[in-house]
Parts: sequence; structure tokens; C-alpha cells
Amino acid sequence: MGNTDLELGFQKILDGNKDWVKFVSEDTTGRFQQLAKGQSPEILWIGCADSRVPANEITGTKPGEVFVHRNIANMVVHSDMSMLSVLDYAVNVLKVKQVIVAGHYGCGGVAASLSRQQFGVIDNWLCHIKDVYRLHAQEIDAIDNHEDKVNKLIELNVKEQVFNLCTTSIIQNAWKEREDLAIHGMVINIGTGELIDLGTTFTNNQELGEVFAYK
Ligand code: CO
Repeated sequence: MGNTDLELGFQKILDGNKDWVKFVSEDTTGRFQQLAKGQSPEILWIGCADSRVPANEITGTKPGEVFVHRNIANMVVHSDMSMLSVLDYAVNVLKVKQVIVAGHYGCGGVAASLSRQQFGVIDNWLCHIKDVYRLHAQEIDAIDNHEDKVNKLIELNVKEQVFNLCTTSIIQNAWKEREDLAIHGMVINIGTGELIDLGTTFTNNQELGEVFAYK
């Protein structure tokens, strides 16, 4: 590489790892040796790919405690094989007990979906958020301030993705077998660090509506 900035940027990653290796080597609890053998997290986190919303830091959890899937605007798209594979593994193999859909205020993906601007291939992904807007257009259009509009859609989007999770065959079949599986919708305030519960928790399929709840 001839570009000094690039080299420095890469070096920073290697140096950062040296600090981590030192931290791990000084740990006396044996937890890293334990983690090296396997994982048994109780939480699945479905969050935004945004660099400002790391699951562990925000929830005060450590390596080994949260299984993570992140994409643009924390979406649960029923035909997304990557999401479905993560969900199936987390629920049926790891037997996680809490699934959290975590949105965040100021989400660029949600903001983009409220505009008419094109951004490339991602436009098609953002259409899933535009669909959420369509379901709640009256409520969102009634808000004057644009930032408030975006933040309302961010909250509503989380709720819709929680619903999408609950309607997957994976979650519904898991509920047939056990009662210790809860799906939550939350939103992160990046400026304060707060993780706010949107009060949209499901622990069974009884409130999904007849068409959505499998027998
Ligand atoms: Co985002």
C-alpha cells in the first residue's frame, strides 16, 4: 500500500487487537477459555448495521452473551435467508430466550425511505420501510416536524419488524414447544445511550390475528 492514511487506518485495527489480546491474557476468570469451547447466549439482537449501535456496549453485555444479526434499518424480511438462518439457529439450536429488534433514532435508512431520492440497489431494501410508512401514513403525515416524522417511523418500523418476527414459522413453531421465548421491540437514543422499550412484547401467537397465527 502506498497510501499512508490507509496504512494508519489498518494499523489502528491491529494495535487495537493487541490491546484486546492483552486484556484477554490478563483475565483470571477463565471465561475466555470457556468461550473458546462454545457459546450459549440467551439473547438474539436484530439491530441496524449503523456503526453507532453496537449490541454489546449498549446492553452492557460481554462476548458470548448476545447472538447478533444486523442489517440496514433492522429489518425482518420474510424471504431474507440470512436473517432466517440466524433466527433458526438462535431459536432452535442456541435456544435464546429474548429476541430484541433494536431500532435507533436518527436512522439513515428510515430517513432515506421517507424521501423520493434514489440511492442505488438499496432503494429496493428501503421499499420494505416505505411499506411500513404506507400502513401508518395518516399518523406520520399528521406530524409537522420532519425529524419527528422520521423518528415516529423508526418506532413504528420496529413494531412492524417485531410483528414480522412473530409471524415467521420459526418463532411460531418454537412457541408451540416452549413458553420461555419473548420478542421485544426497542429503540436506541444514540445521544443518551438509552435503550427504550416500546412495550411491544410478544410471548405467544395469540394476538397476531387469525390469518397470521398458525394452528
Ligand atoms: Co439505522
